[in-house]
Amino acid sequence: MVTHTEAQVHELQQSALEHLWVYMREPSDMAEKGEPQIFTGGKGVHVTDALGNQYIDAMSGLWLKNVGYGRTEIADAAYEQMLKLTYMPAGTTTEPAIKLAEKIASITPGDLSRSFFTSGGSESVETAMKLARAYFKRVGEPGRYKFISRRGSYHGATFGTLALGGTPLFPKTDYEPLLGGVFHGPQPNPYRCEYGGQTPEECAERCVNAIEDIIMFQGPDSVAAVIAEPVASPYGAVVPGDNYWPMLREVCDRHGCLLIADEVITGFGRTGKMFACEHWGVTPDIMTVAKGITSGYIPMGAAITRKPISDAFIGSQRAAFRHVITFGGHPVAAAASLRNIQIMEDEGLVENSARMGTYLLDSLNELKEKHSIVGDARGLGLFCAVELVKDRDTKEKFPPEAELSERINQSLYSSGILLRGGDIINIAPPLCATPGEIDEIVSAIDRAITTAARELGAE
Ligand SMILES: Cc1ncc(COP(=O)(O)O)c(C=O)c1O
Repeated sequence: MVTHTEAQVHELQQSALEHLWVYMREPSDMAEKGEPQIFTGGKGVHVTDALGNQYIDAMSGLWLKNVGYGRTEIADAAYEQMLKLTYMPAGTTTEPAIKLAEKIASITPGDLSRSFFTSGGSESVETAMKLARAYFKRVGEPGRYKFISRRGSYHGATFGTLALGGTPLFPKTDYEPLLGGVFHGPQPNPYRCEYGGQTPEECAERCVNAIEDIIMFQGPDSVAAVIAEPVASPYGAVVPGDNYWPMLREVCDRHGCLLIADEVITGFGRTGKMFACEHWGVTPDIMTVAKGITSGYIPMGAAITRKPISDAFIGSQRAAFRHVITFGGHPVAAAASLRNIQIMEDEGLVENSARMGTYLLDSLNELKEKHSIVGDARGLGLFCAVELVKDRDTKEKFPPEAELSERINQSLYSSGILLRGGDIINIAPPLCATPGEIDEIVSAIDRAITTAARELGAE
């Protein structure tokens, strides 16, 4: 539906260029391209801009629109709670927050049973980091303060989480010096295994061994936690070999450090299970979530702890976890989240994510058969990616002068598909996607790759 005239859109854009930080965008580039584009509506996998143009949002915003756009039931739940109560006196709580914590305890694996609510993913990971350090103070091992993360990971934008991340897509150089005591191991990426593993399992084993080497070198008594995303986004839906998570769990247990699973993207159905750790039967000590917890209808996140971790903070006032996030556990967000989870359960969206994920990955593998510049197609559930290469044998990437992302994105955009393209094309539509919608996305990618390959003489 057209909601604005071109003149109104232009006026809004000028105002945005002057007053708004649009994340990861630079104003003169947006001005040159007639952006930022302004969206006004959405339904299911579709979004509509102010001029009435409709697109498929094949990235679910930023991997978060799990139940899709336009679910008025969530708006109603938030509205009803807003009419009742919109915050609470200090040091108290509300029924929606309690019910949501109880619900999360019932759907997360093992004895993950207590939620600290936050307003987003970075705060959830930051909370997990503080929980891990404070836990070891409570249990008499105050020397454990180090964190081990992985290259090719993303854990958030705040200072602590920034130090954990390890991707050139988000360079840290502008913000140094960063939090100390953080060390990075390899990403178990079967397509480009840093340790030369020839199969996903061999890569996984070598990468876990490398994490253990870091623990040994740093001194096991100094390590608080290992943190990892079950499937990592920065290099495009990197799915580890099936032995990775069980082995990582064993290594953490052997050396007495905590295992933190950052399920900010993977949680709430994205990979075809409610939580990705379930694929490998592993319970982390702390799980961090956000995004899909409300499908982005309202900001929220959580750090969820296993019982032995939570219990270390019980017994006296001095034992308490001293950490406050004002908007954490907001009753309106909690009410929206409960309704969001109910929609997922009632409509079998986690199962749909598994089914449509298999269908999507099969279709992407067909593109790999067809185009020599598709080096790899991978993913789990509706968290998929294809990786484009100049040379399939050497896995050499296209140089920046090839302007691959511009070519791919422009073509996808003209097909009405919104995706973050480039060397790596991430594909993660809402979990309600239908086979027809997956076909539309894959056909557009097929056309974009065909055009880019032709233009670059790489057919
Ligand atoms: C795995 C992971 N952890 C943490 C974050 C940070 O979440 P937020 O942007 O909500 O702070 C993200 C964001 O994309 C993420 O992908």
